[in-house]
Amino acid sequence: MENNIINASVNGKTTVLGIIGCPVTHSFSPIIHNTIANMNKENTVYVPFEPKPEELSEAVEGAFALKIKGLNVTVPHKVNVMKYLYDVDKKALSIGAVNTLKYTEKGYVGYNTDIIGVKYSLEKYGFDIKNKKVLILGAGGASNACTAMAASEEAKKIYIANRTLSKAQNLKENINKYYDTDIDVLNISDTDNIDNVDIVINCTTMGFGDKKDQTPIENKNFFKEKNVQLVFDAIYTPWKTRLLKEASQAGVNTLNGFDMLIYQAIAAQEIWFDKKIDTFTSDTLKNTLSQYYRGNSNE
Ligand code: ATR
Repeated sequence: MENNIINASVNGKTTVLGIIGCPVTHSFSPIIHNTIANMNKENTVYVPFEPKPEELSEAVEGAFALKIKGLNVTVPHKVNVMKYLYDVDKKALSIGAVNTLKYTEKGYVGYNTDIIGVKYSLEKYGFDIKNKKVLILGAGGASNACTAMAASEEAKKIYIANRTLSKAQNLKENINKYYDTDIDVLNISDTDNIDNVDIVINCTTMGFGDKKDQTPIENKNFFKEKNVQLVFDAIYTPWKTRLLKEASQAGVNTLNGFDMLIYQAIAAQEIWFDKKIDTFTSDTLKNTLSQYYRGNSNE
């Protein structure tokens, strides 16, 4: 008998998790979550679903009927999915976007683990944002999460710099409905005019894709002039953006967005299973997957 063709890893007791996005094929989340399941010897499987925007309500209803325990939500559904949920966590509400759904008997509850992911990655790096001055570049989805994190972790001052000022202003107003943090908004070309900042967080797409050669901070002396301690870039492809390279050259510590990606997944698992993931597991996951990811990306 050929026993080696039997696949018993998915069986009658398997818990199904997944991600909904459109497109979803590029997502690294299935690999992260299925690796966590392997490491923890959990009988779970994490699969991609690709509902179109007009199919979203049926997708959530269908998932609920099937009692799918946990779902991640990605572009373009992070905002629209909220109207199909039973409840939304306060941090996710403060930015009006969720990326994680947890099944409850009354309906799905929405969370935003990008906020937790960036918090964990800075903590792990040894950077405590409490009472720090923060410059956030950009006002899109990633910026929403980073600004909510900085406000909820009691940063002393936040600057939001964006090309489109009205988007930065809207983000400030939303955050200030929930947190009374001191926030200034400015155009991204005016960052030379701000006070010193402890951390710079890039949430623009400058440095990524066809903007690979761009940087949101043109002044190479900026990091020294503003006494910056850490530059965090939400981008992780390329592994080191031009911004991070120039910050390193100026002698400043740098961190890319890969840790945030891993920690937002860890935070989702913790929410779904009501259980902390230990440091050994998260460190192993980060190290193993970063090697795998870099080996498979065409840098
Ligand atoms: P994400 O969800 O990854 O945050 P996004 O919502 O598309 O992506 O946001 C992209 C961010 O990069 C925005 O802040 C955008 O600025 P605008 O709000 O003015 O569009 C910023 N961005 C993209 N290309 C830029 C460029 N060439 N110069 C300056 N900012 C840019």
